[in-house]
Amino acid sequence: MTTSQEFEDPGLFECMYNMRAMRRLKPDPVPEAMIEKILDAAVRAPSGQNTQRWAFLVVTADEGRKFFGERYRHWFRKLLGDRMPPDDDDSSPARQARAALHLADHMTEVPLLIMALGKRDWPFRVPPEERVGLAPPSYGSIFPAVQNLLLACRGLGLGASLTTVHQMFEGELREYFGIPDDYGIVATIPIGFPMGRFGPVRRDPVSSKTHRDRWGNQPPMTTVD
Ligand SMILES: Cc1cc2nc3c(=O)[nH]c(=O)nc-3n(C[C@H](O)[C@H](O)[C@H](O)COP(=O)(O)O)c2cc1C
Repeated sequence: MTTSQEFEDPGLFECMYNMRAMRRLKPDPVPEAMIEKILDAAVRAPSGQNTQRWAFLVVTADEGRKFFGERYRHWFRKLLGDRMPPDDDDSSPARQARAALHLADHMTEVPLLIMALGKRDWPFRVPPEERVGLAPPSYGSIFPAVQNLLLACRGLGLGASLTTVHQMFEGELREYFGIPDDYGIVATIPIGFPMGRFGPVRRDPVSSKTHRDRWGNQPPMTTVD
């Protein structure tokens, strides 16, 4: 299952319900046609006034992946500190922490890294006289594209996860990859063929997150809870 042609499209809801953060990835290269397909899915996303202020920096070259991976590992381990759970802890957060550490430790071997960038743009609630320094990238217009990209990876049988540790070394990335000041790095997405299987995502029941007609009114849902 290495090309989209050989992979049966699992369908939209199947993708959404089984799109785990896949952090154990094989080093095998991702075929160019797949890279183009996931980028094409990303740019189908909606954005404010259809301004499409996204850009994607696709990194497959060894030096670039090494540069990113070494810094990601350093900062991930620093942020994790001594919070690593003991080996015999089989809880979901512990397993997640181990998977996240595995990704960090193997980041240089991940074959494909896509950085999702957003053009900086002041939110309209900030009046012009209060606009000091750099505007934030328009996150709301970039995350739909990131989600499309992740779903496309899942649809093609690729493993991916959204990461944000790059915030700790964004300046270095900016300089190394020649990213202009008017773009912010919103997310960095390591992608490759997964070592494990895609399991279902575990989330709180819909009714616990939903209020009907008035805040606090949370009746059970009959078909999905
Ligand atoms: C905004 C955001 C930032 C995230 N940052 C990281 C990260 O830096 N490193 C990482 O390994 N996972 C990161 N994740 C992945 C989440 O930890 C993961 O999706 C969540 O724990 C649920 O796990 P699941 O998707 O496998 O069910 C991030 C997810 C989001 C939405």
